[in-house]
Amino acid sequence: MFKQIGEILSDSMVDQRVCIRGWIYRRSVVGGVAFVRIRDSTGVVQVVVEESRLGSDIVRTLKDIGLEASVEACGKVVKQPRAPTGYEIIADYFKILGYSRDFPIKGGEGVEYLLDKRHLVLRSPRYTAIWKIKHTILSAGREWFNKNGWWEVTPPILTASACEGGATLFPVQYFDKTAYLSQSAQLYLEVMIYSLEKVWSLTPSFRAEQSRTRRHLAEYWHLEAEAAWYDMNDMMKVAEELVGYIVGRVIDERRSELELLNRNIDSLKKALEPPYPRIKYDEAIEILQKRGINIQWGSDLGADEERVLTMEFDKPFFVTHFPKEIKSFYMKLDPSNPRVVLGFDLLAPEGYGEIIGGSQREDDYETLVKRIIENGYKVEDYEWYLDLRRYGTVVHSGFGLGIERLLMWVAGLDHIRDATPFPRFRGRIYP
Ligand code: 4AD
Ligand code: MG
Repeated sequence: MFKQIGEILSDSMVDQRVCIRGWIYRRSVVGGVAFVRIRDSTGVVQVVVEESRLGSDIVRTLKDIGLEASVEACGKVVKQPRAPTGYEIIADYFKILGYSRDFPIKGGEGVEYLLDKRHLVLRSPRYTAIWKIKHTILSAGREWFNKNGWWEVTPPILTASACEGGATLFPVQYFDKTAYLSQSAQLYLEVMIYSLEKVWSLTPSFRAEQSRTRRHLAEYWHLEAEAAWYDMNDMMKVAEELVGYIVGRVIDERRSELELLNRNIDSLKKALEPPYPRIKYDEAIEILQKRGINIQWGSDLGADEERVLTMEFDKPFFVTHFPKEIKSFYMKLDPSNPRVVLGFDLLAPEGYGEIIGGSQREDDYETLVKRIIENGYKVEDYEWYLDLRRYGTVVHSGFGLGIERLLMWVAGLDHIRDATPFPRFRGRIYP
């Protein structure tokens, strides 16, 4: 009997009597008429409550009621170009279900206050649009892997050793030992390729990032792939096909949400067609130096450097062959130049920067032992990982895609905190 608001915003509903339920998003009372904008998960519609039809009590109540009260209403749909979404309901029935007194978000509050009220802030149509885009990204990602012959696996979150460096490890008390929250499923996916060859997983990853930035979370969703027999180039093709497919699905299925967020869809469309450009780290340094950035060969590319690089491209692009010192121990050294690794990052355009990090993996036992030691890790912690090179080692590669990073770019968000409902940063774990 109740319709969703999205269903009634159409010419075919005009003159029909409908009932809806939702929350009060805005309201104003002019004379004896209340204009109440009601939202549900599908949209917003204006409901007109007239004293002459429904009595003065309800209009008086609506004058004082707080935003976000839950209500139900019935009435005839009319076309109304002056209403925010083009249609109105002229109410013949209106009922308040759940009162809302002094809703604490009135507009103009600061970032920290809004983070404390996150559980209420999330009700805005802007966030509804963002979560729908995230849903489509996740569903398209899964679908791409499933359609292309990859196996989904379930790696652990409690781990015994570091994948991405000790500095960002979160220790947890594990019975009488210290364990860590997973930074990446990669090492476990590398195990799984020996039984399934092409595997993927979607898991939370944790990084104890020391500083709060626009693009770092302490907890994020990580879509990772790993495949036997794939070299770096094979894996870069997987990354670009996957990203192109996800962006295509979002443009097809989430157009109105992208429009609500004022996302420029034409620039996004450029990502639909792989291959994406590829540059080596050496060229990236040259470009940056030409643009007046003070950076030397050997330095890592931070957010600022990446932003400058993204100005050179109008679609996602790869940076490859980084100096081994700035990348992880497991990346394979380039046989033709062992100062660099067969690693790649995929950077999103329009200033966004890294959304994927990946590499071919070191498959040679001796070299990997050396790399573990060089990086200051204990070889005994990685005996199990070294076994993969002792018993039937193969060429293999993989990557990890940060879902919130991808969402930031696709939805055009300024800050990664808006890409996850309950962002975790240093100094904040509430609610
Ligand atoms: O580049 P990263 O550190 O690579 C790895 O973790 C590899 N082990 C993945 C693999 O090869 N299986 O992280 C991968 C991606 C980054 O490109 C970024 O999108 C995201 O994870 N990421 C973060 N997203 C949000 N907040 C953070 N603190 C992130 N750190 C990494
Ligand atoms: Mg990275």
